[in-house]
Amino acid sequence: MSAALIDRRGPCPVAVRPGEDYLWCPCGCSTSQPFCGGSHKGAGLVPFRFHAERDEPLYFCGCKRIHTPPCCDGTHESL
Ligand code: FES
Repeated sequence: MSAALIDRRGPCPVAVRPGEDYLWCPCGCSTSQPFCGGSHKGAGLVPFRFHAERDEPLYFCGCKRIHTPPCCDGTHESL
C-alpha cells in the first residue's frame, strides 16, 4: 500500500454496529475517513470490506500502511 496517502499517523476510533458492513479506505483520499468515499477509482487500490459482529469501539488504520487491514496494528509508530 505504499501508493496510499497518509490520512493521519494514528488510528481512527469508530463505534461499529453489529450486522453492519464498513468499507475501509486504503488510498487515503476519501473525505469520509476512515471509510471509502469513492476516491480510490484509478488509484489501483480497492476498499476493504469489514463486517461488524459486535457493538464495540474499533480503531481503524489512518496511516494506510497497515499490513493486515482494517484495524490499527501499530505500523504507524514506525513512520
Ligand atoms: S494507524 Fe495505521 S497502523 Fe496504526
